[in-house]
Amino acid sequence: MNNDITPEKRQRHLKITKPSPWVARFAPIAQKNTAVLDIAAGGGRHSQVFLNQGHPVTAIDKNTTALSDLPHQENLKIVKFDMETDNSMFAQGSPLFGQTFGVIVVVNYLFRPLFPGLMDALAPGGLFLYETFALGNEAYARPRNPNHLLKSGELLELTSGQMQIVAYEHGIVENGDIPGVKQRLCAVKDMNLSKREDNEPPTHVI
Ligand SMILES: C[S@@+](CC[C@H](N)C(=O)[O-])C[C@H]1O[C@@H](n2cnc3c(N)ncnc32)[C@H](O)[C@@H]1O
Repeated sequence: MNNDITPEKRQRHLKITKPSPWVARFAPIAQKNTAVLDIAAGGGRHSQVFLNQGHPVTAIDKNTTALSDLPHQENLKIVKFDMETDNSMFAQGSPLFGQTFGVIVVVNYLFRPLFPGLMDALAPGGLFLYETFALGNEAYARPRNPNHLLKSGELLELTSGQMQIVAYEHGIVENGDIPGVKQRLCAVKDMNLSKREDNEPPTHVI
């Protein structure tokens, strides 16, 4: 599951159509009908989760051929874009310029320079779902390149102070969609949306 997967590996990956259990678990806490951004969407299995919940979805990937088969196309915007160039997808003249999203979902993809842009593009109250491979995975399978493997606590550090952490896991996943050493985060950008005197942020169903 390297960012630069071979066509054969990509084909194999596209055959996995069930959503990650992490995404399936937390998708229901998204604010209803808010716009969703599926980063490195692949075959769109997570776009599908949110389309089925009635959300408008933007699915971005450098290879979008598998996305045109998804149902609910009327609610799906497909963006073909290479996210690993100097040209940010959020910059003026780029496809997502000026847009914000109520959900951002990233699964099995890591390109660290994207994080500041993703944090900014998440609307207040927005849900951030992230799951990908972590260091230690190289002992079992690809990806093995440390550029594509999270360090212990890294998703927490990257979102620290900006989001309420609803759930976090790091370890060996033996079942689920793709086994491996993984890190998973569910966070909500609602640290400043408290309705309480003590400034505690809202609570969510886990
Ligand atoms: C392992 S797949 C994950 C797909 C999807 N998130 C899922 O969980 O089913 C990684 C995806 O990242 C995309 N990708 C890799 N490098 C990219 C880049 N530079 N820009 C945009 N997409 C990229 C690939 O085309 C592939 O669809």
